Amino acid sequence: MTLTINTDRLLRELDQLALITDCPPIQDRPLPGTTQAVTRIVFTPRDLEARAWLKELVLAAGFTVREDAVGNTFLRWEGTDPGLGAVGTGSHTDAIPYAGMYDGTVGVLGGLEAMRSLKESGFIPKRAIELLMLTSEEPTRFGIGCIGSRLLGGVIDPEAADRMLDRLPETDASAPTGLTLANVRQAAGFHGSLASVKLPIGHYHAWVELHIEQGPLLEREGIELGIVTNIAAPASYRYTVEGFGGHAGALLMPDRRDALCAAAEMILSVERHARAANTSSGGVDTVATIGMVGVYPGAVNSVPSRVTLILDLRDTDVARRDGVLSAFHADIAEIEQRRGVSVQEEIVNADAPARSSEHIVETVEAICKAEGVGYKKMVSRAYHDSSFIAAVAPTAMLFIPSRAGVSHKPDEYSTPESIAVGTRVLALALAKLANE
Ligand code: GLV
Ligand code: MN
Ligand code: MN
Repeated sequence: MTLTINTDRLLRELDQLALITDCPPIQDRPLPGTTQAVTRIVFTPRDLEARAWLKELVLAAGFTVREDAVGNTFLRWEGTDPGLGAVGTGSHTDAIPYAGMYDGTVGVLGGLEAMRSLKESGFIPKRAIELLMLTSEEPTRFGIGCIGSRLLGGVIDPEAADRMLDRLPETDASAPTGLTLANVRQAAGFHGSLASVKLPIGHYHAWVELHIEQGPLLEREGIELGIVTNIAAPASYRYTVEGFGGHAGALLMPDRRDALCAAAEMILSVERHARAANTSSGGVDTVATIGMVGVYPGAVNSVPSRVTLILDLRDTDVARRDGVLSAFHADIAEIEQRRGVSVQEEIVNADAPARSSEHIVETVEAICKAEGVGYKKMVSRAYHDSSFIAAVAPTAMLFIPSRAGVSHKPDEYSTPESIAVGTRVLALALAKLANE
């Protein structure tokens, strides 16, 4: 088989998808590598538009489409032995506010291109090959990431998932819209029980996700491809800090129990403990971020009485991650006492790390060697849908370099050459695994 990846078609489609955004479109590209800012939040009109656009492409390519109750979209290329477990690939097309245009989309459209180019080159798979567009990899709307893949992997309770609150407003993390995931998905046209989403073990013989690195290592080291051996364990906690508010002029300083000042100390505390964990380990694997703060009542002349914080805490080592959390808890207790506030913690998720299948990693390594592609084995510090598909299938991921390591920002960029290499290695891996 002589495989030719149609990189022009893939780049054109990445550009088209990027224009389905809630950010103002850029009219032209003033500099090479200027990219479109993308906001495409799950189940908003833009997300639904992107889904419809993708389905048209898939049907035009001659594949079948199935959607499950949460909107995970499967396109299937049937194999000559439909009784065998399939080979899966895919990623997500939702995007956080003011994101870039490559996160997730390279895995979906690259996966589609890999399948199309295999088909066009005359390849006939023994096992089916499936491409998935997974619902809500990003946590923007329901507070937890990878909703579609968690349900596929059976790592979230379907009824609890349906009750998750919609918190679409970006500025106040404490303000649910009053809707639940059940309401929002059904309004978007996805019906049925979420329990039906889980995949049986064996549905996938193997799963490979192509993604941008989102970090600086491949570019810095001049390496074309990363083969992910493990994915760091993510956790997320929501904190409600209750203090005492009042008039910003009349409430005297000695009488204040300002919830935002207490929250500010909490933010600095968790940062300090994450840095200390890295100093002790001599590594960089512990990361802590508070990226959402909701302030009530949110008026310039009112002392904040309630603040909501959302902590994102990750580590390759769960024990070390838990150690940071314990140290943070001790600080919270001290802040509560000293400032006369109360702090409630709610666990959003606390997940295990994921390990790639040695067999898939070795398969990809052999392809890289045969194709002369420079690679390194590496850790993913971002989480991905593969983290949860790993609960029901052997998985691995391919990373392509991200310019300056930038991601979750509009200037996220990967070169056409990297996208082409990643898509080619993905296609060859799908072909190899599909004929096992
Ligand atoms: C995925 O988007 C992540 O936050 O790791
Ligand atoms: Mn992302
Ligand atoms: Mn992603």
